[in-house]
Amino acid sequence: MPINDAIIFQNVRFTYPETKGPVLKNVSFKVKKGTWISLIGHNGSGKSTISKLVNGLLLPDSNSHSQISVAGLNLNSKNIWNIREKVGIVFQNPDNQFVGATVGDDVAFGLENRGVSRQKMIKIVKQVLSEVGMLDYIDAEPANLSGGQKQRVAIAGILAVEPEIIILDESTSMLDPSGRAQILKIIRRLMKAKDLTILSITHDIDEASMADDVIVLNDGQILDQDTPLNIFSKVEMLQRIGLDIPFVEKLKLKLKEMGIKIPKELQTKDELKQYLCQLDLKK
Ligand SMILES: Nc1ncnc2c1ncn2[C@@H]1O[C@H](COP(=O)(O)OP(=O)(O)OP(=O)(O)O)[C@@H](O)[C@H]1O
Ligand SMILES: [Mg+2]
Repeated sequence: MPINDAIIFQNVRFTYPETKGPVLKNVSFKVKKGTWISLIGHNGSGKSTISKLVNGLLLPDSNSHSQISVAGLNLNSKNIWNIREKVGIVFQNPDNQFVGATVGDDVAFGLENRGVSRQKMIKIVKQVLSEVGMLDYIDAEPANLSGGQKQRVAIAGILAVEPEIIILDESTSMLDPSGRAQILKIIRRLMKAKDLTILSITHDIDEASMADDVIVLNDGQILDQDTPLNIFSKVEMLQRIGLDIPFVEKLKLKLKEMGIKIPKELQTKDELKQYLCQLDLKK
């Protein structure tokens, strides 16, 4: 039977040895295979903890009824290595992700332990570097690259081992808007071409809006899961838990205060502009 859900969390509880109580409490959600999910929530709400559970860097509390399934495999100490092969994480700080002396070596690193022949390795490294537009830098030193280029190399390193799921844990937060847009465009293209599932953890509303679904986390609990359109129009909920709201929603609030009601479906600046231009405000 084909697997429909790439990630399933059921009643997941997680406690760090150092924390008094659990930092995740009864967390349940599903991510359909081939979809893009954004995870949003305030600092310390448990987002990175979730990402580390997805790739088996952490295991849920053993004395709980937690169940995690990733790419059709139940997460347990026996399956950890199988699961890690299926999930790649791109972290926030690109500088902490390099192990190789050159870009090419770095991308090859994940392949070296898998008994891949040298000839095949060179072919894969070139292929994935060209997929992220970094083939020209194959002999460059990672330290000399820009932040955006480093993140592209990190993505190439992950692609080399053919994951099913890619987690972006604030991977674009240190990039400027154009670097961020480039990375997101690359990820979207790869997602379609390779049927990848994307879990993006982000504070950036534009990035979260690209998702099929948004999960809202608050103090280690899931508060909501819905389309970006629906989530970002729940302005009161977002403000209550200290999250930013999109520019267009802020503008809608101001217009509402002025007595001008804007339909919920209008989400982009352009749609709003068009709508306002055709209103007869003198009436
Ligand atoms: N290794 C650790 N040991 C002990 N406590 C930890 C550890 N890592 C995280 N925590 C605690 O667990 C909670 C959740 O942390 P987590 O890193 O998952 O949050 P986050 O939502 O990713 O936050 P941010 O937006 O700041 O990255 C926080 O209270 C944090 O202090
Ligand atoms: Mg985090």
